[in-house]
Amino acid sequence: MQHSNQGVIAHRFGPPPEVLQVESLAPAELERGAAAVRMIASPINPSDLIPVSGAYPSRTTLPFIPGFEGVGTVETVHSDNDPALLGQRVLPIGAAGGWQSVKPCSLVWCIPVPDDISDTDAATAYINPLTAIRMIDLHASSPGIHTAVVNAAGSAIARTLGHLLTQRGIRTIGLMRHPRNEEAGSCWAHVIDTSIGSWREELHAFTGTGSLDLAFDCVGGGEGIDLAQSLSRGGTFVHYGLLSGQPLSPKLRQDRPDLNIHYFRLREWVHSAKRAQLVSAFTQVFNLVREGVIRTRIQEELPLGDIAEGLALSLSQGSQGKVLLRP
Ligand SMILES: NC(=O)c1ccc[n+]([C@@H]2O[C@H](COP(=O)([O-])OP(=O)(O)OC[C@H]3O[C@@H](n4cnc5c(N)ncnc54)[C@H](OP(=O)(O)O)[C@@H]3O)[C@@H](O)[C@H]2O)c1
Repeated sequence: MQHSNQGVIAHRFGPPPEVLQVESLAPAELERGAAAVRMIASPINPSDLIPVSGAYPSRTTLPFIPGFEGVGTVETVHSDNDPALLGQRVLPIGAAGGWQSVKPCSLVWCIPVPDDISDTDAATAYINPLTAIRMIDLHASSPGIHTAVVNAAGSAIARTLGHLLTQRGIRTIGLMRHPRNEEAGSCWAHVIDTSIGSWREELHAFTGTGSLDLAFDCVGGGEGIDLAQSLSRGGTFVHYGLLSGQPLSPKLRQDRPDLNIHYFRLREWVHSAKRAQLVSAFTQVFNLVREGVIRTRIQEELPLGDIAEGLALSLSQGSQGKVLLRP
């Protein structure tokens, strides 16, 4: 069966507001083993915009339709395949393409969504929650961790990290450049404003004679280095994003050979995990959504045609919540 389709698409790499446009797309032809998923909602995440900018040209094929996460309903499955998922809500993961009305997706990458999970929670249940859960499992499980610090603390992922760390009895410090949102502050024992030049001293004074054991950095550049340098001897530094656009100085390893430095990429884990591991990780996410631990805030819901407004909002006020595209 063929499906009419509209999508947000880039024909060349460049700044997302300049190169992304809305188009009618050729109807998706279903390959064997694939489903056509009619998208209900797909958020704008920083990680959607990185490939559009041309950061990974070797693994990004043009034309490119962004949207790594989202929720939709299985509308058709290839005639050679089991129709069990027909009509079900799923998360079509594994590749970009959520910013279109009908996303073709291999059935093995379609994760069923329980009925009691809302469309909004489902649409944002993948990238940030799974990254936070994996990083916490990997790096916050040992008993000697008392205090952790997280930068870009108003971001969706940082707030989930804050809640998960607090759940484990770890004291949390959030670094924010615009600490204006009360809700964002609620998962932090202490919030430090990085727009004030003395934030490093404030962090030092707050930890006092206690240790600063663990840091999560998605800013990179000078702020990332300063954060790593603030860790106690033998601390753990987890780098997972580059919001500043500046890489971490390679000198960090020479300057602080005592630190355990880790890089986390969700993509690597997802593409090496077995389906059962993925389904189990999503069960954990859905349970945390039910418990209220994972709460992704939505600042605006827009049709695909308003992508320019959506990009402007998510780039200028990310701390206010996600922009959800409704294809
Ligand atoms: N490694 C992985 O596998 C993985 C997976 C998921 C996410 N990530 C990364 O995690 C990061 C956060 O993603 P998200 O979806 O949670 O973000 P988000 O909800 O869209 O929020 C972005 C936040 O970052 C802040 N910010 C932006 N640029 C900044 C800068 N230069 N310095 C300090 N703060 C800055 C914004 O604060 P303002 O309000 O002050 O603008 C906002 O609070 C991104 O870098 C993303 O690529 C990585």
